[in-house]
Amino acid sequence: MPTKDDVLAALADVLSPDGKPLPATGTLSDIVVADGKVFFSITVDSAAVKQWEPVRERAEAAVRAVPGVASALVALTGERASGAGGGAPPRRPQMQPGAARPQPGPGHAPQSPAGIPGVEAIIAVASGKGGVGKSTTAVNLALGLRDLGLKVGILDADIYGPSMPKLLAIRERPQTIGGTRLKPISRHGMAVMSIGFLIEEETPMIWRGPMVMSALTQMLREVEWGALDVMVVDMPPGTGDAQLTMAQQVPLKGAVIVSTPQDLALIDARRGIAMFRRVNVPVLGIVENMSYFLCPHCGGRTDIFGHGGARAEAERLGVPFLGEVPLDIEIREKSDAGLPVVATAPDGPHAKCYRDIAARVRDSLQVAGRPAPKIVIEA
Ligand SMILES: Nc1ncnc2c1ncn2[C@@H]1O[C@H](COP(=O)(O)OP(=O)(O)OP(=O)(O)O)[C@@H](O)[C@H]1O
Ligand SMILES: [Mg+2]
Repeated sequence: MPTKDDVLAALADVLSPDGKPLPATGTLSDIVVADGKVFFSITVDSAAVKQWEPVRERAEAAVRAVPGVASALVALTGERASGAGGGAPPRRPQMQPGAARPQPGPGHAPQSPAGIPGVEAIIAVASGKGGVGKSTTAVNLALGLRDLGLKVGILDADIYGPSMPKLLAIRERPQTIGGTRLKPISRHGMAVMSIGFLIEEETPMIWRGPMVMSALTQMLREVEWGALDVMVVDMPPGTGDAQLTMAQQVPLKGAVIVSTPQDLALIDARRGIAMFRRVNVPVLGIVENMSYFLCPHCGGRTDIFGHGGARAEAERLGVPFLGEVPLDIEIREKSDAGLPVVATAPDGPHAKCYRDIAARVRDSLQVAGRPAPKIVIEA
């Protein structure tokens, strides 16, 4: 099995644009070697990204040539130089509601440092805890927003356990544009990107902090998202590095918190809410998932987990309650088959649930982004 030192030795033959061996440039992240698969990132000043792209390619090729390496993924990340010149934009994006939006459109020159050109609003679907149905909610919410006539993208930010390849039955790999940028996969009229499209499903996800950050940054900044009204980001569980990176690197318009009704999950939801508040991202509301069980045989309803906990919690925390989604075998089966319920059973009750949630999200986005017009009554 190849080691980190083998990888570094191979990289010593790869030269930076100014002729230095790559390991001596101080641009490399930690190198993760797992099961013959190698991941690392090269972080350079964003102005120099173009010159570095051939270096990234050579680095990938050099690592692939190391005996025993089955695959290599090298991410190239542009970092804004900090404190460069007077009037430089602040490194931390402004995330208050109503903060300036990046203007969509090609060829647009000075853009907000944190914005993704052409993307109007980015929202995170998150929870403190795993397995509560974030990914299922993210996909169906995105489809619900699409059904409202919005142009929607999905970014699977769950680097450790990407879900979009499965939830949307995506097997193909994204194409590159001009060798440096990736084209998102198009599904159900939405633009979709996931680290899962780039690496094998069986790859053990032994990513470390720096890798998580650079992979996320790359998926945000080096993908041709095009013009989108909303980008829905499926977050990994927890309140760790990845969430903070997202919140710091992207001007999130808001966060949707998914919780199951149990107390325990709600404690985690509270933690999630607290985290977004800490970084000034408005919490758009809570979705109660697996809220109640509708018997497919008799139509009877059972509140398995003590339904209603999330609504009460939302009230207590002063955040909107966005709606409840039942625990239903059809939702699970369709999700697992890559046929999300809003796309494949649009006339059913579940699709309606998600569309109602989507409508509330859209409304609160408008509230968060655009102040309601003042009505002046003339005397
Ligand atoms: N409302 C629902 N009814 C039935 N099954 C559901 C529902 N929501 C989610 N599931 C199922 O629960 C499982 C976990 O859902 P999902 O992967 O969306 O959760 P997650 O919070 O994204 O998990 P992770 O933390 O691992 O990313 C999946 O098998 C999914 O199909
Ligand atoms: Mg998930």
